[in-house]
Amino acid sequence: MSDSRQELIALLQTAYSAELAAALAYRGHWQSVSAADEREHIEQIENEEWHHRKLVGELLSSLGAKPNRQREVRSWVIGRSLGMLCHFVGWLAPMYGAGRLESRNIGEYETAARYARDCGCAEFIDCLLSMAEVEWEHESYFRSRLAQHRLGPGLKLWPAPPPKATIRESFANELAQSSNLKNVAGAANANC
Ligand SMILES: [Fe+2]
Ligand SMILES: [Fe+2]
Repeated sequence: MSDSRQELIALLQTAYSAELAAALAYRGHWQSVSAADEREHIEQIENEEWHHRKLVGELLSSLGAKPNRQREVRSWVIGRSLGMLCHFVGWLAPMYGAGRLESRNIGEYETAARYARDCGCAEFIDCLLSMAEVEWEHESYFRSRLAQHRLGPGLKLWPAPPPKATIRESFANELAQSSNLKNVAGAANANC
């Protein structure tokens, strides 16, 4: 099995379980906030994480792989614990923690799309980049909530991700560059 296929499977197993932890944590999170618009929006994010988990599970099975059982158990414990903790730690910490985690999720799905490209699973790319875009929206939501908090101006946040459009643009640029390189190599071979 190629390295990139193995790396893709490992990353998808991680993502599959991380989506479980996230969805369970968000369930506790939306139930712990009192503003109706926040409850509704975070519940929608929970549903999107369940949808991601379903999609990632389908990608794993089409690679002939299964979720990692240990990761699943650990993620269930983490997700349930974080979900319960949200009821006791106030408004700010869950919003901050969620935004910070979401910023990491964007890059994970972009990396998975690159592994998919490198191991000949081009049909996965659009799905993986779409999930990166949804994670970008999640990060943006939590960032915007924190900005409106009275402590917002003084909060030191994680680095802001580049604009959402760059997720697809940078991927397309890399594809164009690699096909240019192949053309140059092809022309050089033809000249030999
Ligand atoms: Fe997700
Ligand atoms: Fe997310």
